[in-house]
Amino acid sequence: MTSNVLRPRELACRAAYVLRGNSAGTMTRAAPDLYPHQWSWDAAFVAVGLAHVDVRRACLELDTLFAGQWRTGMLPHIVFDPAEEGYFPGPDRWACADHTEDAPRAPRTSGICQPPVHALAVERIAQVAGQRGGGAQAQVAGWLPSAYTRMLAWHRYLASHRDPTGVGLLTIYHGWESGMDNSPRWDAAYAGVEVGDLPPYRRRDTTVVADLSQRPTQQEYDRYLWIVEELKRANFDDGRIQETASFLTTDVFMSAVFATANDALAGLARRLGKSEADELAEYAERFRRGVVATVDPVSGLALDTDLRSGLPLVAETLAGFAPLICGGLSEAAEQQMTRLLESARWTGHPSLRHPVLPTTSPASADFRARAYWRGPSWPVINWFFALALSRRGCTDCADRLRGATLAQLGDGSLAEYYEPISGEALGSLDQSWSAAAALDLLLARDWSD
Ligand code: SER
Repeated sequence: MTSNVLRPRELACRAAYVLRGNSAGTMTRAAPDLYPHQWSWDAAFVAVGLAHVDVRRACLELDTLFAGQWRTGMLPHIVFDPAEEGYFPGPDRWACADHTEDAPRAPRTSGICQPPVHALAVERIAQVAGQRGGGAQAQVAGWLPSAYTRMLAWHRYLASHRDPTGVGLLTIYHGWESGMDNSPRWDAAYAGVEVGDLPPYRRRDTTVVADLSQRPTQQEYDRYLWIVEELKRANFDDGRIQETASFLTTDVFMSAVFATANDALAGLARRLGKSEADELAEYAERFRRGVVATVDPVSGLALDTDLRSGLPLVAETLAGFAPLICGGLSEAAEQQMTRLLESARWTGHPSLRHPVLPTTSPASADFRARAYWRGPSWPVINWFFALALSRRGCTDCADRLRGATLAQLGDGSLAEYYEPISGEALGSLDQSWSAAAALDLLLARDWSD
């Protein structure tokens, strides 16, 4: 671990340098070697970081991502760079356009999605450009109408296809859709996935991250790949997937993101004089209510549900704080949840190197300090919570998370995630979204201090 702590200006320069280095021209690799393509929520966050250095490039990042949008409105979780072959599962394994005409033939994409943070990113980009004024502001103003149209299709897809019964919770088909692949949130749901006749494959992630304890296990990976086969057999058709897939759950974190992203998109609709503002505000309310209804009185956390067994997925992960992202709790319940977040089960745990949210409570039996989404702390997630909280006016908690995240990022490694107790940088270094988070934490003028 680097012992030097970078000064803010040095950290900002390093972060901008990393984003530049990871650029493949019109898209930014999520990480230089481990993730050499464009991932959906990574790209949205990367665009926020880019907005602080080059607004035009920020818009281009999102245009490249939206070029992969499906005819249904779905925004896929990976848009593949045709010039890059070093990733598995790549476009040949997904083979989306061979199974459905809804998928574009070019660019090639994966067949699942990720948390819909895009409207929040666009809102932030517009703020940054507005504060800069001049050419930056004009550039974004000219771009917003087309971005709006594509995000509207994306939100309509989610509200209809992923919440067909209107309960205000999004359904996911794969843990990868949550973005939190091997989180203990999904253990019980994955336990019901029986791997069938899986075509042979060779993992690539474990050749890049040599410490196997950081990556999903082989059994987990087999299940991930088996679900891809199931989705192909269903020709990526939402109705058929919901009837046949062996993994089917709700996702409270993704639903909270969707609620607040609808607030942001409704704001943009009003600004552009669009007629859909009320429809989007209704989505926001529906999903806020859906998320708040999942809070478990015992743990005080919002819980996902396994739609195959009908049972709640009990786990102490940061997704449980989803209501703090979208709001909707009573004042007393919100204060209680904020106290829990800062308690000794979470950011106030005495052994943590920095008071940031780990992915799983260190007090939980599921906690694994080095294992991807089972314990490590991710700067981008802490930044996102700080952003969502400050957006809702919860500035004290947001400021504390912001300060602690910047202290964690001060080692300059811009790691994908950190061992929360020792502070060791783990996963991929020079991760694009960690660089983007650093830039926004350092340079945005909207933080309360
Ligand atoms: N996060 C996955 C991976 O580890 C892909 O979405 O490759």
